[in-house]
Amino acid sequence: MMGTKTTEEFNSKIKRIIITEDQIKSAIEKVGKEISDSYDGRPFLLVSILKGSFVFLADLCRAITVPCEIGFMCAKSYYAGTVSTGVVKITMDLEQDISKYHVIIVEDIIDTGRTLSNVVDLLKSRNPLSLKLVTLLDKPSRRTVDLKADISLFTIPDYFVIGYGLDCGEYYRNLPYIAEYNENAK
Ligand code: IMP
Ligand code: MG
Repeated sequence: MMGTKTTEEFNSKIKRIIITEDQIKSAIEKVGKEISDSYDGRPFLLVSILKGSFVFLADLCRAITVPCEIGFMCAKSYYAGTVSTGVVKITMDLEQDISKYHVIIVEDIIDTGRTLSNVVDLLKSRNPLSLKLVTLLDKPSRRTVDLKADISLFTIPDYFVIGYGLDCGEYYRNLPYIAEYNENAK
């Protein structure tokens, strides 16, 4: 599959834009201000969960106007068919000792919540000064575990979405907006 998709095939799967660049931009400005106001003067770390959150993190950190640090972590969920098994492997860990920081986890989307609840448990066990969760997108109708974001920028129905960091088979992360994926298109 890698490198075999034509531009025509790529475009045909983009069903419709559900969140525009402008909508994303103004929601991020608001949250950036909120975070700047409440974390000013405190040591805090934005923890980006790769890969999906890299675009959101890049824009969010530039909407923050006070000193902050950034860390990256890669979490891989294992699936039995299409169902997440709840087994999560950390394929790349943070380099920071988070016991010295107020931590804000930055995620692209919370779907069943299983991936993130594992990450939250792991980070909590390392005793951060505090721990909050910011997600760009939330699909609450799909939740199977008890997990709630402290800040969620957009709540969406049970669509499979692509763009702005979110992929389907590793493609579409580069779209500047969030779109619904058209599974049935050729
Ligand atoms: P969860 O463990 O079910 O919450 O899975 C979350 C992960 O699944 C996200 O970090 C995404 O990588 C992926 N995911 C869930 N829903 C979507 C979607 O609509 N589009 C693209 N990726 C998704
Ligand atoms: Mg992800």
